[in-house]
Amino acid sequence: MKIAFLASEVFPYAKTGGLGDVAGTLPKWLEELGHEVKVFLPKYNTFGEVEHNLHYLWNIKEIPVRVAGRVCSVHLHTAKLPNSNVDVYFIDCPQYFHRFRLYTSDPDEDERFILFMKGTIEALQHLQWSPDIIHCNDWQTGLIPLLIKENYGWDRLFENCATVFTIHNIAYQGIFAKEAFSKAEIKQEHYLHGGIGEFFGNVNFLKTAIYSADIINTVSDTYARELLTDEFGGGMQHFLSERKDSFFGILNGIDYSVWNPETDVFLPYNYSSSDLSGKLLNKKFLVEHINFPFNESIPLIGIVTRIVDQKGFDIIAAGIDQLIELPAQWAVLGSGEQRYEDLLKGISVKFPQKIYFYKGYNNEFAHLIEAAADIFLMPSKFEPCGLNQLYSLKYGTVPVVRKTGGLADTVQDWHESLAKGDETGTGFSFADYSSHALVNTLQRAINSFYNKTAWRKIQLNGMNKDFSWKRSAEKYVALYEKALKKRRS
Ligand code: ADP
Ligand code: GLC
Repeated sequence: MKIAFLASEVFPYAKTGGLGDVAGTLPKWLEELGHEVKVFLPKYNTFGEVEHNLHYLWNIKEIPVRVAGRVCSVHLHTAKLPNSNVDVYFIDCPQYFHRFRLYTSDPDEDERFILFMKGTIEALQHLQWSPDIIHCNDWQTGLIPLLIKENYGWDRLFENCATVFTIHNIAYQGIFAKEAFSKAEIKQEHYLHGGIGEFFGNVNFLKTAIYSADIINTVSDTYARELLTDEFGGGMQHFLSERKDSFFGILNGIDYSVWNPETDVFLPYNYSSSDLSGKLLNKKFLVEHINFPFNESIPLIGIVTRIVDQKGFDIIAAGIDQLIELPAQWAVLGSGEQRYEDLLKGISVKFPQKIYFYKGYNNEFAHLIEAAADIFLMPSKFEPCGLNQLYSLKYGTVPVVRKTGGLADTVQDWHESLAKGDETGTGFSFADYSSHALVNTLQRAINSFYNKTAWRKIQLNGMNKDFSWKRSAEKYVALYEKALKKRRS
């Protein structure tokens, strides 16, 4: 199959969260399974062309793309996704993408991604490459299925092309004033009342995708079920329910060539499940680096995250006094909402030997925390899949998670497994979204940490799990086949 894969972030070029990891890995596995994949992303000015080996495509020259009634010149650059033969194409339009960050709240945010979508479609035309599947991810690519069917339906290049749309996070929908659709030259009927893109008088790119993609999926089975409910559906539950025969869940995998404690290039000490001594040395290295007293028997709790409500910061804030009382040390890495950053900053100044807060994005430090911490905390309000708990499992860092979405599908509670008499638990989890449940569950994890035999068993259970992409990539291929069958019947 020929697959065009579109995302607004692709690791190692551009990443703010898990979408970047997925878009930088899944295409390689699709290629491994014998498919031809081309990846498309905007050429932001946040990464170096030389560092990432980008080449300008001289033979394509410039592509005139119409957005908001103006013609913008798009240039194409290309590179190979590292350790693969996958071609990545960068949609270059400085006027929209040289903003020093991936996402903005600028008034032309809609135009930026309309340009990305139309630019990609027209790049395909210039490359004369006819994909069987266009795989779109999140709202930044949400208009593609409709554009392909209607605005570019005249082009035989797309005659047999099916579209798959993956929802990575329902909290981001791409809601704009109605004019966004005219900027994209989408027919009026789609944004008038009752139109597939209309949403309370505005337009919604995600809703448009739900109604126009051949197949829709999200990134875990539990989240797929949750999305059909009022609690988690983010206003999309009824639309998804209407399309539930074409809506699936596929769990993400992780890239073990990047996230593996045996080979991780960012770690001072590598280690494996047969010899965990390096893990303790990493803990000592990190703890001393942040000026905490080192004591092997004090558990180190790690957090690496976007600091937003989704990740459970309201229950962390509500329980902060009890959390800081726990016999543990904390290393927290992240950035996001100011009020939570301020809270973390304040508490780390007040308890400088207990909690260290690094405000910002730091890939190397993220790897070090995964390796050094004893416990990894993810008390998410909702979590479509979550990758950090999967990294933690591989690194022998026991996850403490809320039982929701992908967290529920990937972490087994230790005490629940004991109750069943099978000792298969890989972490600790709680269902009730409250600071009380959070504190209790962390306390439960800390108590188990003191039991060395039990702790080692939990660590090894996690380290021996396999969340590699292969299985998930095979499921995507099956989904593509379903989409093609639908499109061609
Ligand atoms: P989400 O996509 O909702 O942010 P995931 O768990 O799927 O959550 O993926 C988050 C990814 O982003 C992980 O690879 C994680 O290591 C990375 N990440 C998040 N915040 C930071 C940060 N501040 N510094 C470095 N990496 C980060
Ligand atoms: C989203 C979700 C996260 C998921 C990631 C990759 O950002 O919040 O749970 O792992 O996308 O699919």
